[in-house]
Amino acid sequence: MIERYIQFLGLDETLRLLETNERPLLPSIRVNTLKISASDLRKRLEKKGNELEPIEWVPYGFNVVKEGSNLGSSHEFLQGYYYLQNVASMLSAIILDPKPNDTIIDMCAAPGSKSTHLAQLMGNEGTLILIDKNQNRIPALEVNLRRMGIINSFVLNMDAVNLSELNIKVEKILLDAPCTGEGLIRQDPDRKRSKKMRDIEKLALIQKKLLKSGLIALKTGGKLLYCTCSIAPEENELVINDVLNELNNFAIIEISEKYGVNGLTEVFGTYLREDLKFSQRLYPYIHDTIGFYFCLIKSIK
Ligand SMILES: C[S@@+](CC[C@H](N)C(=O)[O-])C[C@H]1O[C@@H](n2cnc3c(N)ncnc32)[C@H](O)[C@@H]1O
Repeated sequence: MIERYIQFLGLDETLRLLETNERPLLPSIRVNTLKISASDLRKRLEKKGNELEPIEWVPYGFNVVKEGSNLGSSHEFLQGYYYLQNVASMLSAIILDPKPNDTIIDMCAAPGSKSTHLAQLMGNEGTLILIDKNQNRIPALEVNLRRMGIINSFVLNMDAVNLSELNIKVEKILLDAPCTGEGLIRQDPDRKRSKKMRDIEKLALIQKKLLKSGLIALKTGGKLLYCTCSIAPEENELVINDVLNELNNFAIIEISEKYGVNGLTEVFGTYLREDLKFSQRLYPYIHDTIGFYFCLIKSIK
């Protein structure tokens, strides 16, 4: 893993990454504005001894700089007033920019961090189709939907590679692809050793199939956001490069805000599509988040 990091980050940045991965991450919460305002929730949680600091990128998000009560079991949590979620993960729904009347597919939805956020931004209107292949993860998704008061969605337990069976075309799709989670080492140090190169290769095949399936289900002019909590180029730029070079009529578009650094257009000695520079990478040692990757793709048929 470290040898690969050195190849695409260089030695200095790899050392900074490894050092930062040893430092714990502040917990953060996304206020469910369908149920309570950010200021009211802040007052309630601060009365219980928590200290919250606004997140610059998310007007209803807070970093918890001091945890005075257990945030995973408070009354406010159980009532669905907030979701415990990393800032990087919060950006996915914001970038896809859902509108109240959209029909949106979340291809890999469980346990629902991003689905519940999409529903929040849709004002609980429109239609949200939530798919996950793993039956064991569906109950957690349903509990989160219920807890957060989401009523504009339905859940399908299916393989999103077979999206065409639904016979629909939609304007927006989120593909939060299954990945090695290399970006989560700060939260889960076991991931330093749990994934091997063959896991990356296996996942890259699935990621390509899912991406193709999602792009084909887009209406003309529609957008798909591909994201992973991995910084591995094999799970990100290399997946997108292969799929977009195979399918015509799709382009990577610029994300309206600059959160991270540009995606890679050259890696492991290979030149990739130029428009990959519009994708963005979040690094723990620069952005103080988990490691994350976003790429917004538009159907231009
Ligand atoms: C990164 S997690 C999704 C996290 C979720 N988006 C969230 O924000 O809470 C990836 C999910 O993809 C699901 N998955 C893996 N392969 C799939 C497939 N072929 N079709 C649909 N879901 C799949 C896994 O069960 C897992 O729940």
